[in-house]
Amino acid sequence: MLLQAPKGTQDLLPDQVPLWRHIEESSRAVLERFGYAEIRPPMMEYTGLFQRAVGEVTDIVQKEMYTFGSDAPGKEDTVTLRPELTAPVVRACLENSLFAKKPFQKLYYLGPLFRHENVQKGRLRQFHQVGVEALGSYDPLLDVETIELACALLDGLGLDQYEVRLNSIGCPLCRQEFRATLKAALAPRLSGMCPNCNARFERNVFRVLDCKEEKCRAATAGLPSIQEHLCGECKEHFGKLRGALDGAKLKWALDPRLVRGFDYYTKTVYELTYPTLGAQNAIGGGGRYDGLVEELGGPKTGAVGFAIGLERVLIALTESGKAAEWLSARERGPEIFLCTVTAEDRVRTYALLRELRARGLAADVDFEGRGHKAQMRTANKLGARLVAVLGPDEFTKGSVKLKDMATGTEREVPLAGLADAVRAAPAVPSAPAGA
Ligand code: HAM
Repeated sequence: MLLQAPKGTQDLLPDQVPLWRHIEESSRAVLERFGYAEIRPPMMEYTGLFQRAVGEVTDIVQKEMYTFGSDAPGKEDTVTLRPELTAPVVRACLENSLFAKKPFQKLYYLGPLFRHENVQKGRLRQFHQVGVEALGSYDPLLDVETIELACALLDGLGLDQYEVRLNSIGCPLCRQEFRATLKAALAPRLSGMCPNCNARFERNVFRVLDCKEEKCRAATAGLPSIQEHLCGECKEHFGKLRGALDGAKLKWALDPRLVRGFDYYTKTVYELTYPTLGAQNAIGGGGRYDGLVEELGGPKTGAVGFAIGLERVLIALTESGKAAEWLSARERGPEIFLCTVTAEDRVRTYALLRELRARGLAADVDFEGRGHKAQMRTANKLGARLVAVLGPDEFTKGSVKLKDMATGTEREVPLAGLADAVRAAPAVPSAPAGA
């Protein structure tokens, strides 16, 4: 039987990695412009962290965590592959006393996460996020900064079709009142709703609002909205946030059904959707979580953050044609490809290659014993900018013809000055054949 990668995981092959690196590099540049510093928590955490932070009755904790192992027999210290990074970042801040050093922290991360989900387009079991956590402020302008940053990350990649959906789910105080109102209004409609929503009615009634099933959406139409139940402070926070977003001319839409699947959120929640992504159209999401730091044993701390799913970014880039555009615009091949004429020249050519690389040039040579013409085809396929054919004559004369693959022009240059000549040759962008 052919061995396969686990379901819901992907190999990122050499021809895919450049685009991933482009996404990562573009993201880092934007994040650093906004003043965020990178943090790298471990791939696994003690399971209790997610149970406490994400919530015992959420889908993630109940169904989607990869949990295993125990350090000592009989001890409840199993670990879980991180299904999200907000809780690990808060844990890392507290464990390393970051707030004692600087009470306001702006942190970002980029890396893999693991959820045991039903696999489909844009939904994997190992996926990647770029995300931020800004901790130490209750200022609604910080919510605005994170939303603008999420947009800037997508803008930076040329993705401009996204939509921002926004809601406030209030604080535990407003939610307590709203929970009772919602339950009373929902109870007579439950029989027409899916089993999941029936379970949610008891466990976490707010999640009923963002069920995607048609019959549930119909049954929940016209229900009272949390907007009408926000307390004074939550209303004021949301008002300031909306005003600032409008002031920034950022397009957003109020979605009173937006709840999100984590217990830690308070007040602001938002999602960025990308219309062509289909069923999994959320490209990113986040919100404020003013109670989480305290819940995990730290001081009372206002905080807000979001994460963007990189696989979904990649789908959006591919489907919009931006990926192909970017790939064809970049120069990928080596600066020079050295062809050899006889087997005897190979060692001397390899020495020359070593010298070019030591001078910082991307240079390559044939390792498959191909003939002269096939070597030229390889150089062309690789997208080499220049080619030099080295035979006994060239080594005797001490010079070689440097051919520009884009224009076909040739120039005789001394072997001793080859690196300088390659550097000096004007760069005419060439793309690998077939690109
Ligand atoms: P989330 O909404 O679960 O939020 O994930 C954020 C994004 O990660 C989603 O919008 C989606 O693009 C991507 N994503 C999630 N699950 C998968 C999957 N199975 N396969 C592929 N992509 C996926 C969080 O994780 C929060 N921790 C965000 C946050 C940060 N809130 C505050 N700070």
